[in-house]
Amino acid sequence: MKRTKSDAALDEKTAAAGSPEGGAYLRAGHLPVMLGEVIETLAPRSGSLQIDATLGGAGHAERVLEESSPDGRLLGLDADAAAIARSAERLARFGDRVVLRQTNFGDVAQVAPAAGFGQVDGILLDLGLSSYQLSDTERGFGFRAGGRLDMRFDTSRGRPAADLLATMEAAEMAALFRKYGEEPFAGRIARAIVETRRQVPVDTAEQLAALVERAVPAPKARRTHPATRVFQALRIAVNDELGALEAGLAASLVLLRPGGRLVVLSYHSLEDRIVKRFIAAEQRGCVCPIEVPICVCGRSPSLRSLGKSRTPSSEEVAANPRSRSARLRGAERIAA
Ligand SMILES: C[S@@+](CC[C@H](N)C(=O)[O-])C[C@H]1O[C@@H](n2cnc3c(N)ncnc32)[C@H](O)[C@@H]1O
Repeated sequence: MKRTKSDAALDEKTAAAGSPEGGAYLRAGHLPVMLGEVIETLAPRSGSLQIDATLGGAGHAERVLEESSPDGRLLGLDADAAAIARSAERLARFGDRVVLRQTNFGDVAQVAPAAGFGQVDGILLDLGLSSYQLSDTERGFGFRAGGRLDMRFDTSRGRPAADLLATMEAAEMAALFRKYGEEPFAGRIARAIVETRRQVPVDTAEQLAALVERAVPAPKARRTHPATRVFQALRIAVNDELGALEAGLAASLVLLRPGGRLVVLSYHSLEDRIVKRFIAAEQRGCVCPIEVPICVCGRSPSLRSLGKSRTPSSEEVAANPRSRSARLRGAERIAA
């Protein structure tokens, strides 16, 4: 397929799966998404304890600390050591109001109480990856990354994406692209990878993006790079993102005190579906089948939804295209 200048610009914008980032706003660092709406929903106050489970560049965390002045405290988590180091610098002025831990938020139920955050007033999950990770050409998140295709948030754990591409059977790989990327040409792409790796390893992001582009039919109009769904699927698999999300949501029930708030920003339908169903189920409480006339499970509601999901304003999307797929959901813990 012949590539045009606008294709290249589009690739820049959709350089990571499910995260249309790139260009000037990438070079400017990571802009916190729906910052006003997040703060309004989380409503941090002085004296409160908050958990930012996905620190990234600490943009949300910084505002939470400002809003909870003079004595609100924040536990900041990130699986990525570089995000922790960057956040430590940005948040240094808040002194001992901030505690940082490099950890997967799937482990927050254990990590938070050990850090003195056993019962908290707010938990924020801003899912996916940051512009810093995307623009790091060594890590393989963006289509143009020339380094080994890694995609791990925590590079000390798990297997890099290049290992999956080198070892998975075509059928297994196709199933992964379908499940986590909802990729319509999953089989075709998986076969092309297996075919190619007989000659050369498929182990850079650049190489994978070009291979997918060749393997799928040219679309009539392009909104995203053809490899977007495959990159999303690999990233989700490598980091077990959906498993971590389910564990993090379950932990929020243990950690939030009554009246405490959970705020989640998701960037694709697989994540949002999990969040939406979790809040709906916890709002309902009872899990008895509908044919059972009287509740026998004894479960009572543990969350109250804070209204419909919200999306960013058109002004924010224009200023920060990365925000365009964001969806915010909030819920409040209620006494069981
Ligand atoms: C979208 S960024 C957060 C940006 C941040 N809210 C800000 O204002 O700069 C998401 C961050 O979450 C981290 N992350 C993703 N999944 C994680 C997990 N399961 N556990 C811990 N951190 C995770 C990523 O490493 C990344 O730094």
